[in-house]
Amino acid sequence: MTMVLPKYLPERYHRPVWHLGEQFDEVMLASLRPGMRILDLGSGRGPALWPKDRPPGTTYAGLDISLSELQAAPAGSYDEMYQADATTRTPELEGRFDLIVSFQVFEHVKPLDVAFENMRAYLKPGGRAIVQMSATWSVFGMINQVVPQSLAVWMLRKATGRSKESVFPAPYHKCSNSALEEILRPWSEHEIRPLYLGADYFKFFGPLARAYVVYENWAMRGGHRNLASHYLVIAVK
Ligand SMILES: C[S@@+](CC[C@H](N)C(=O)[O-])C[C@H]1O[C@@H](n2cnc3c(N)ncnc32)[C@H](O)[C@@H]1O
Repeated sequence: MTMVLPKYLPERYHRPVWHLGEQFDEVMLASLRPGMRILDLGSGRGPALWPKDRPPGTTYAGLDISLSELQAAPAGSYDEMYQADATTRTPELEGRFDLIVSFQVFEHVKPLDVAFENMRAYLKPGGRAIVQMSATWSVFGMINQVVPQSLAVWMLRKATGRSKESVFPAPYHKCSNSALEEILRPWSEHEIRPLYLGADYFKFFGPLARAYVVYENWAMRGGHRNLASHYLVIAVK
């Protein structure tokens, strides 16, 4: 489906169509091989990779703190389901996965460093993690941290039209470029890609969205990585 975007949104919002997970999907699809064991961390009702897109022989496990979120996913989404907190080590998952994917989950997780260490433990040697999260120092991240949760949910619903059920508490713990650099030290390789794609939260009021884009362009062009709206992390055990 092609979405018509306001003209004031810069080129990066248009390539090829606006979709927050576009770069995440690109990296994930390029990482797939037949016979992989994949863990989707915080997959809830929406696995990052739908069954039709999985290579032959894939085993796809979903892990989420909420069993009801996992059960709300379309039938056939998961070969295995684990109800667990990302910050609590699940020994049976250790060393079992070639690939871990996690889309828009880690802003909800605290302590984030513990979740990354668990993820590293769940990978086989040489296994890869692909994670996208919202950023601590994004404008909406900062608003979310200072206003009460009920007001944050109301604002997010108003701004983006999301349902109440799709908004989860978000502490935004250590979701910044500098904190992630520290957290990723034990990994053998890593890339942190800052994304500057936060205008969606302000689209309910054009002048505000325009002002936001001016700020975001400044942050991006100035290389202020800690002010990104989201991070895409690619890390190898
Ligand atoms: C915004 S939803 C994203 C779901 C899915 N990844 C997607 O893209 O549709 C966040 C998910 O993270 C889960 N979650 C929140 N905190 C978690 C934690 N500490 N450990 C594991 N899952 C968690 C929620 O239950 C929810 O399913």
